[in-house]
Amino acid sequence: MEQNRILIFDTTLRDGEQSPGASLNVHEKVEIAHQLAKLKVDVIEAGFPVSSPAQFEAVKRIAEEVDAIIAGLSRASEKDIKAAADALVSAPRKRIHTFSSTSDYHILGKFGHPRYGATLEEKRKTIIQMSHDAVAYAKTFTDDVEFSAEDAGRTDIGYLAEVIETAIAAGATTVNIPDTTGYTLPFEYGKKIAELKKRVSNIDKAIISVHCHNDLGLAVANSIAAIENGARQVECTINGIGERAGNASLEELVMALNVRKDLLNYFTKINTQEIFNTSKMVSAFTGMMVQRNKAIVGENAFAHESGIHQDGVLKSRETYEIMTPESVGINTNKIVLGRHSGRHGLKVRLEQLGYKIKEEELQHVYDAFTELADKKKEVFDDDLRMLMGDEIQKRDETYELTYLQIHAGTNSIPNAVVRIKTNERVFEEAATGDGPVDAVFNAIERALNIKSELESYQVRSVTSGRQALGEVLVRIRSGERSFTGRGISTDIIEASAKSYLSALNQKVLHLKETQIISENEKVSEVI
Ligand code: KIV
Ligand code: ZN
Repeated sequence: MEQNRILIFDTTLRDGEQSPGASLNVHEKVEIAHQLAKLKVDVIEAGFPVSSPAQFEAVKRIAEEVDAIIAGLSRASEKDIKAAADALVSAPRKRIHTFSSTSDYHILGKFGHPRYGATLEEKRKTIIQMSHDAVAYAKTFTDDVEFSAEDAGRTDIGYLAEVIETAIAAGATTVNIPDTTGYTLPFEYGKKIAELKKRVSNIDKAIISVHCHNDLGLAVANSIAAIENGARQVECTINGIGERAGNASLEELVMALNVRKDLLNYFTKINTQEIFNTSKMVSAFTGMMVQRNKAIVGENAFAHESGIHQDGVLKSRETYEIMTPESVGINTNKIVLGRHSGRHGLKVRLEQLGYKIKEEELQHVYDAFTELADKKKEVFDDDLRMLMGDEIQKRDETYELTYLQIHAGTNSIPNAVVRIKTNERVFEEAATGDGPVDAVFNAIERALNIKSELESYQVRSVTSGRQALGEVLVRIRSGERSFTGRGISTDIIEASAKSYLSALNQKVLHLKETQIISENEKVSEVI
């Protein structure tokens, strides 16, 4: 590999999906993986196959369909590694990514049981052996094995060097040094990478990878410091989503390398013009909105508000812009479809936005599109993204809203009637509430004989104008887990009803995945 090439390992579908409330179904993951391939990431970490049947299925489908190195995560155990190998079996280029915990915090916390050793010293030895065995076993399935030392950021450098040397001796071709808790500072993390280069005798036999979390807002800065000290793979996610405060954001890292070539003499193979589409797709499918002032992909990233700035940019863009919106795929000439646009025009535009649409689905999206175009004349890209999100979400739908009637007014008690269809039967109920949304939720709960704890309810307009599509995101809690639903409509009460049902659909999927209910059982009797 060229000396200055930085490999981009995207973990949106694994670490990114671990963001609270960001669950993706299999179809959404496959769609995102295709877009990541178009963005030209080097490695797609598609999931953690042993963790659930749906994770396994997603990794398997991505391995079958998508052209990139496909990675599956596994702990340092034979069961996990075998599951990853099985899920990846049909990938022409596959990677097994296995990890062990190495910091004292993790060792004492996760490996506290005496079977791992009576003292910290003994436990450390056990972990070295487990890491060795895990890499050696993974090697029986593929040559491309990555080993991660979890919480390396807080791991003693001497011990870390020993673990990494062992992993490379066992056959690891990439060694990852995660700052799992986002604790380190750039100069400290850079030094850690430099130290490993000095101390690990076989380090030249593997690529050094970094994986930074953003708890102190330093994930991208830390990744750059690591590159400057010898790391040649960076793990990141689209929009920086991930556990807690997230992971290093792919778009920020890649554009920092591009824009500051003068000081950072490295390059990636990323097609930066696909950044915006990818960001939008991930945001629409995960329901995780991108903050307006987010670098590179936020709505304000290229907006100039003050008169002085506007004047400066009009005279010469470089006055206040260090990169162009076009360079990240933001098209300033917005293409607008309308009621006279045909199926072909719609298909072409959806493909340009990064969606791989099947012929049989095109008709559904086209029907939704014409219905929307009748209501609001101009249909924007963001509307199309929402329609696609809705279509993909429907593939796993258990509950479908087929009828909704609302009565609400200044001096009346709001009431709602809903009709909900499943494969087995139709449910119909009416209820009152404090407001129309409450009435709808009460009617749904009555119809299905359930009660959920509503954790959050958000509504936003997808585009501007009075007839804009409204998107409602609902998060409900059930025991330890939360489920997020998304609904769209030009009527926000209808969007609310759809969103609540979509959250229930997620919950049913989860119950099926964890095999708490079988496919034939009546879901309404279980949830
Ligand atoms: O943050 C972390 O340490 C991880 C590892 C599993 C690579 O996500
Ligand atoms: Zn992580």
